[in-house]
Amino acid sequence: MTQRTAVGICRARRRRLAALLGDDTLAVVPTAPQRLRNADTDYPYRWDSHFHYLTEFPEPDAVLVVCGGKKAHSILFCRPCDPERERWEGPRCGAERAIERYGVDEAWDIAELDRKMPELMAEYRVLASPMGQESWDQRLQVWWHAMRGQARRGIRAPESWLDLADCLGEMRLIKDARELQSMRRAADISARAHLRAMKATRAGRHEFAIEAELLHEFRVQGAAGPAYPSIVAGGENACILHYVDNQARLRDGDLLLIDAACEWRGYAADITRTFPVNGRFSAPQRDLYEIVLASQSAALAQIRVGKRVSAYHDAAVAVLAQGLLDLGLCSGTLDEVLETQAYRRFYMHRTGHWLGRDVHDVGRYLDAQGKPRKLESGMVLTVEPGLYIGSEEGVPAAFRGTGIRIEDDVVVGDKGHEVLTGAVPKTVEEIEAWMADTRHH
Ligand code: GLY
Ligand code: MN
Ligand code: MN
Repeated sequence: MTQRTAVGICRARRRRLAALLGDDTLAVVPTAPQRLRNADTDYPYRWDSHFHYLTEFPEPDAVLVVCGGKKAHSILFCRPCDPERERWEGPRCGAERAIERYGVDEAWDIAELDRKMPELMAEYRVLASPMGQESWDQRLQVWWHAMRGQARRGIRAPESWLDLADCLGEMRLIKDARELQSMRRAADISARAHLRAMKATRAGRHEFAIEAELLHEFRVQGAAGPAYPSIVAGGENACILHYVDNQARLRDGDLLLIDAACEWRGYAADITRTFPVNGRFSAPQRDLYEIVLASQSAALAQIRVGKRVSAYHDAAVAVLAQGLLDLGLCSGTLDEVLETQAYRRFYMHRTGHWLGRDVHDVGRYLDAQGKPRKLESGMVLTVEPGLYIGSEEGVPAAFRGTGIRIEDDVVVGDKGHEVLTGAVPKTVEEIEAWMADTRHH
């Protein structure tokens, strides 16, 4: 994608934001701070998702201001050029070049922020910014209080504050063609990583060794890295939903659950597969697996424009609950299991979430009436039912310590949906065939 296209897309996003906010509102969006890991070593830098959506400006210490209304005048504050520092840390864009490279109307040295912000704020009645970043919230307050102190000199501070996260969340929820292209690539690389990991799985290897296969594929394909900490969970570890320890040795006869995906150009994929360490499902594993798979199919059938976002969860739960009854893991009637939510002992999370720049992406789940919102074209979400049968008392021995999840990424389209992550084997037959293939060659 050419620089000009990206610049044009970001400018259009800023215009849309300004139009949504109107003439009275000043929007201020900081990027993420660089965070210290220890001594003089930083964590790898990752920009703020909102900020990057509006600018694609990659450096830390930057703030975007967008003046609401038709003009959508946008101002970038960024680090100054500094040959000495650039020798150590790499090139900086600097304010002068930022105008041309990023298509903003004005750019200033970040050191000017404390002086310029009160001047800008004085012109607006509403100050809008993504709230909840503690140090940033405080900084806004300092400016605001300083302005209140100057009221007698005729300076007026904005009268109200608006959390911009909701507005930006709604914008980001619908992905454009360029975003979908990045998400397809993130999904493709992540699918390759899962294939590679399945191939490398053997009893006796460690979870971390399989994690290394995933990371290898992400990086060798040029992805930034994992979009979230990789879960590589053998046997009972799969029943810990956010297991990221990845230290155990894989055992013959266990299943392996892998939940891992990469970030490509700022966009995440999110894939889970569960497969036998030795390449063959046991009968009880297969029984549970087929229920989760059927549950996912039922959920996928509910994904198209106009369906409520709750419909696919409900469809998944109905199949899981019936399956738990059939296997004797729940008792009573289907209605009772659904009514009492008895299934939650074995299925305690939702069936999916929005996906985009963040793995759990932004955007509301409810409509204006407080009902689950309707799906629209260009939304991207995950479909990830699972069953987690811990080792507790009262569970048939054959199923104990088994965790299964199947997760795919789906784009909502006018005529149904597009599964981005279908390249990874999913049926029992596909998985066993792929694993047998890799074991004989
Ligand atoms: N990997 C996080 C999730 O599946 O929601
Ligand atoms: Mn997910
Ligand atoms: Mn996941």
